Amino acid sequence: MTTTTATRLEGSVILIAGAASGIGAAIARRCIAEGARVVCADFDLDPATELARALGPSAAACQCDVTNIDSAKSAVDFAEKKYGRLDGLVHNAAAPSTSATVVDLDESAWRHEIDVGLTGAFLMSKFAVPLIAASGGGSVVFIGSQFGRVATTRAVAYCAAKAGLIHLAKAMAVDHAPDKVRVNSLSPGAVATTRLLRRWPDFDAANAGLGPAHLLGRIADPDEIAAAAAFLLSTDASFVTGSDMLVDGGYATR
Ligand SMILES: NC(=O)c1ccc[n+]([C@@H]2O[C@H](COP(=O)([O-])OP(=O)(O)OC[C@H]3O[C@@H](n4cnc5c(N)ncnc54)[C@H](O)[C@@H]3O)[C@@H](O)[C@H]2O)c1
Repeated sequence: MTTTTATRLEGSVILIAGAASGIGAAIARRCIAEGARVVCADFDLDPATELARALGPSAAACQCDVTNIDSAKSAVDFAEKKYGRLDGLVHNAAAPSTSATVVDLDESAWRHEIDVGLTGAFLMSKFAVPLIAASGGGSVVFIGSQFGRVATTRAVAYCAAKAGLIHLAKAMAVDHAPDKVRVNSLSPGAVATTRLLRRWPDFDAANAGLGPAHLLGRIADPDEIAAAAAFLLSTDASFVTGSDMLVDGGYATR
C-alpha cells in the first residue's frame, strides 16, 4: 500500500523522551503532522505541557527524568494508559554539554552526561521495547550526534555518550529484530536550537562559526532532523535496523 508522509504515522503512538524543546519538539510536531499520537516526555514538565497543548488533542505530556528507572517506567506506563499501545520511542534527551578534557572534567559532570545521554536510552528502552513488541512491533530511534562518529575538542563525555548510543542501537537491533522492533540511531550535525546559544550569541553567529565545517556550508534547521526521525519511525524504513543515519550536512564525511 502506498502512504504519503501526511498519513504514514496514522494510528501510531510515539513516546519522545526530551521532547520539550529543540529537536525533540520538532520531532513531536512532525509526528503529529504525519498522523501519530505523541507523548511529550521531558524533565521540564511545563514546556512539555505547553508543547502538547499547542499540538492539540493527539498530544499529551508527562514528566520524565530518563536517568531514573521509576520515572522512565512511569513515562512508558503513561503512554500505555493514555493510548493502549506504543509504536515508537525516540530518546532525544541530552544534558547541557560540558566543555572539558578528561583531566579537568568533574566526575559528577561525566556521570550526569553519560546518565542522561546513554543510560537514559537504556532505561527508556527497557520499558518501551516490550510494549512496542506487544503492540506488534515498531521503531526505536536514538538521537546521537556526528560526535559519536568523529571526535571534537573538549567534549569527552558527549563524544563517549553519543558513540555508546550508536552501538547500543546496533546491539538492541540484533536482540529485538525477532520482536519486530527496529532500532536505529540518527546523528545530526549542528542544529539551530537553544543548545547552540550556550556557546554562540545568536544563530547567525553559530551558522558563521559552525557552518563551514559541514559540506553543505550551514547548520541544520530542527525540522530537517525531524524529517529523518519520522522516516525511521515509519514503515518507509521497514528494512532499516541497526543503522546510524548521519543527517549532518556532510560534517563527518571528510
Ligand atoms: N543542537 C545541536 O547542534 C545538536 C547536534 C547534534 C546532536 N544533537 C542532539 O540532539 C538532541 C536534542 O538536542 P537539542 O539541541 O534539541 O537540545 P535541547 O537541550 O534543546 O533538548 C534536550 C531536551 O532534553 C531534556 N532533558 C535533559 N535532561 C533530561 C532528563 N534527565 N530527562 C528527560 N529529559 C531531559 C531537556 O529538558 C530538553 O528538553 C540531543 O540528544 C543532542 O545531543 C544536537
